[in-house]
Amino acid sequence: MVLLSSASVLQLALCCVALLLIHLCAAVPSSKVGFGYRLVSIAENANGGGLIGYLQVKQRTSTYGPDIPHLRLFVKHETEDRLRVHITDAEEKRWEVPYDLLPREQSPPVGTTKPSTAPFTASAEYAGEELIFCYTSDPFSFAVKRKSNGQTLFDSSYGAMVFKDQYLEISTRLPNSAALYGLGENTQPGGIRLQPNDPYTLYTTDVSAINLNTDLYGSHPVYMDLRNEGGEASAHAVLLLNSNGMDVFYTGSSLTYKVIGGVLDFYFFAGPSPLAVVDQYTSLIGRPAPMPYWALGFHQCRWGYQNLSVVEGVVEGYKKARIPLDVIWNDDDHMDAAKDFTLDPINYPRPKLLQFLDKIHSRGMKYIVLIDPGIAVNSTYGVYLRGMAKDVFIKYQGKPYLAQVWPGPVYFPDYLSPNGVSWWADEIARFHQLVPVDGLWIDMNEASNFCTGKCELPTTNSCPIPGSKTPWICCLDCQNITNTRWDEPPYKINASGSHVPLGFKTIATSATHYGGVLEYNAHSLYGFSQAIATHRALQGLQGKRPFILSRSTFVGSGAYAAHWTGDNKGTWANLRYSISTMLNFGIFGMPMVGSDICGFYPAPTEELCNRWIELGAFYPFSRDHANFASPRQELYQWDSVAVSARNALGMRYRLLPYLYTLNYEAHVTGAPIARPVFFSFPNFTASYGLSTQFLLGRSVMVSPVLNKAATKVKAMFPPGTWYNLFDMTNAVVSKDERYVTLAAPLNKINVHVYQNTILPMQRGGTISKEARMTPFTLIVTFPFEATNADAQGRVYVDDDERPEMKLVEGEASYIELYASVRDKTVTVWSQVEMGSFILDKGLLIEKVSVLGLQGNGQGLAIEVDGEPWADALNAHFTQTKSDLMKVEGDNKRSNMVVDVGGLALPLGKKFSMTWKMGIN
Ligand code: NOJ
Repeated sequence: MVLLSSASVLQLALCCVALLLIHLCAAVPSSKVGFGYRLVSIAENANGGGLIGYLQVKQRTSTYGPDIPHLRLFVKHETEDRLRVHITDAEEKRWEVPYDLLPREQSPPVGTTKPSTAPFTASAEYAGEELIFCYTSDPFSFAVKRKSNGQTLFDSSYGAMVFKDQYLEISTRLPNSAALYGLGENTQPGGIRLQPNDPYTLYTTDVSAINLNTDLYGSHPVYMDLRNEGGEASAHAVLLLNSNGMDVFYTGSSLTYKVIGGVLDFYFFAGPSPLAVVDQYTSLIGRPAPMPYWALGFHQCRWGYQNLSVVEGVVEGYKKARIPLDVIWNDDDHMDAAKDFTLDPINYPRPKLLQFLDKIHSRGMKYIVLIDPGIAVNSTYGVYLRGMAKDVFIKYQGKPYLAQVWPGPVYFPDYLSPNGVSWWADEIARFHQLVPVDGLWIDMNEASNFCTGKCELPTTNSCPIPGSKTPWICCLDCQNITNTRWDEPPYKINASGSHVPLGFKTIATSATHYGGVLEYNAHSLYGFSQAIATHRALQGLQGKRPFILSRSTFVGSGAYAAHWTGDNKGTWANLRYSISTMLNFGIFGMPMVGSDICGFYPAPTEELCNRWIELGAFYPFSRDHANFASPRQELYQWDSVAVSARNALGMRYRLLPYLYTLNYEAHVTGAPIARPVFFSFPNFTASYGLSTQFLLGRSVMVSPVLNKAATKVKAMFPPGTWYNLFDMTNAVVSKDERYVTLAAPLNKINVHVYQNTILPMQRGGTISKEARMTPFTLIVTFPFEATNADAQGRVYVDDDERPEMKLVEGEASYIELYASVRDKTVTVWSQVEMGSFILDKGLLIEKVSVLGLQGNGQGLAIEVDGEPWADALNAHFTQTKSDLMKVEGDNKRSNMVVDVGGLALPLGKKFSMTWKMGIN
């Protein structure tokens, strides 16, 4: 027994005494559902490390089924900042998120270990580098503590742990200082910070994003907990890796999980910064998929582009209006009778479509189409016939499970089946021969079904009903299934926000996947498994970096797909909600996210669409999409919206090198592209609930207008200097006032860059392929009136055709940018890693703009690769005195924008420039 070995005795005593006291003194709410467990043994795990314990139920109840009498506890510090606590049936193997879908360290298989007979201490601890696992034995409870500051991060002694076949319950106590984020997918009217007593139900459903506080398309049972105690913030995260439906109750002082199956598989991530948390989280669940460069351009879609000419018109409309557009999409309109992987021969004739694609591809534009998982049951349809021959569909009582989606009767492919995965890859390859699409949109994959229960083809009517205007109304003959404990489990989660049966408008939960896996267990993995299969198919096929947009997501989906927030409304409230959902997905390891710009339905007002493109131009995934029932809402449809679009998307396209570098950082560290403000300012507690502004990367702040008729925006700025990116002579110097009122006329969005930053920008353009070849300007921001300050930035560039995004000589380059001002001497320089790729591309720096200095620049000296730069003759200063500089509480102080222009510095070579600031 070495349980007591590693941590300091003092810490141990405190940890355990605290837990014992809680047991003895606190009013522990006793749950009627269960009476908890007693620890009967605990010892080191001889094979593979960690601890193994055994638990015995204290007293049985029959509510929600019998208790599982013996449990096995497995605890392991898997890394220095990740602790796993895994509790399962000691005798029977239980359902877990499959290890092949989400690769991770195995927990020891049950039955391979036995309870230890060695004596053990009633309460003890097991310490890692930063996290400490402590337990008490009777009743069994565990706590996770942080070594560095003694905080208790999780404490299950709050309530009795319950473990039944179809009902698991466990709680933790939380301090008032805990600000929680996550537990989605959920539209949160209260903003990004979780609100006590709001319901958090996790179960994937086709319930649209307009429904508040309801389980939506994705399931992410993870939360980040940010605490500021004694002025020092620290963040950690807790993942309950479980794919079964669950309700999570958060009261403000406690959090209780009620889960209807699987195991208690907790992962604790130590942080302590929010960025460290997402780094640790994505190192477990998979790093965000690298996005191709063009995916960061603007996308236009609509359900209802009746024919190819309309699509061509849209592309021309953007061109004519000089509004950036990289990607044009088709919803299901290109399909023949809504069947996946087909073309409507009349409205989307293949020869014409191929001509169109040649044309847009030659300009660098891309084309993406939608597919749904439901495969039409139709004996003249090859996709279906090949699927049947390979036995790829989800089954009910031995036969493919019949459902209805857009094409009418469908079967759902089983992406847990090896045959299903290979058949899917083959169908995608065939489709690619038919139409060389650049990406795939996987929709309706919760999975959405227009019918419920056990259905048959109707005998009295045809289905789909010919010419029906309401194809979403069930036309199969269906009966509810109520006779199994999978369809009617004893505990009813708050599914779809109204306790509907689990199989409501989805696959019956007693249906089965490959290997007998119950839909009951795997339901929320459907979209995830489809994304994996689609990714594999596209990567194998094109040898290129795939782009996939998925509606349904689970823990780990970000490694394969981007996400949009689903069907929203063209209302001001929905504009606002989009920010919280986007920020949550960043925390979920899916940084490529955005909402339907201008709203999916009904028609937005012109003013709203103006404001939406101003915000949406800064979503990581920026796409205008609408329902066929809404009027057309491409950005050129209104003159005023076109102005806003040129302005905001114009800035996005100038920021593409920054966004692409963020895409790289997301891929290697999990850092969200769009982040809550507290990610950069964790000690600025005023920002903990801030859900109306956000950061792109570390230091670009977006402060949109979210209210009708507003021409000003009240924006929060953490202390420091924030330069307006559109007009760099204008800045906010924030002290403690927090809120600053900014002018925001209809066509303007406020975007600011924080001090100490070097922002790489290019000239922009209307297609990213062209924009990315234009010369760079480096924006260097020092604090206002800086005399002694530093700034930093970075640029990653590669050939985005490559599936991998990593630094390989000749295929990618990484440039680190630095600047300093010391005693009136300004230096700007770079360090270059693997410069050859960028040198070959011939990318140049044409200008360096430095903000925050006083006086005039003099005596410019420039070196490239350590030698005086031969072309230095053209370099010159342009210096603008910026009387307009707005200093909060101290208006109209002057400052300088110092531009060093006339440059043609190769970005792929290290450079250094220096000058002196004189008196102006
Ligand atoms: C539902 C999706 O959420 C929506 O974006 C799409 O337009 C429709 N399905 C039709 O495919």
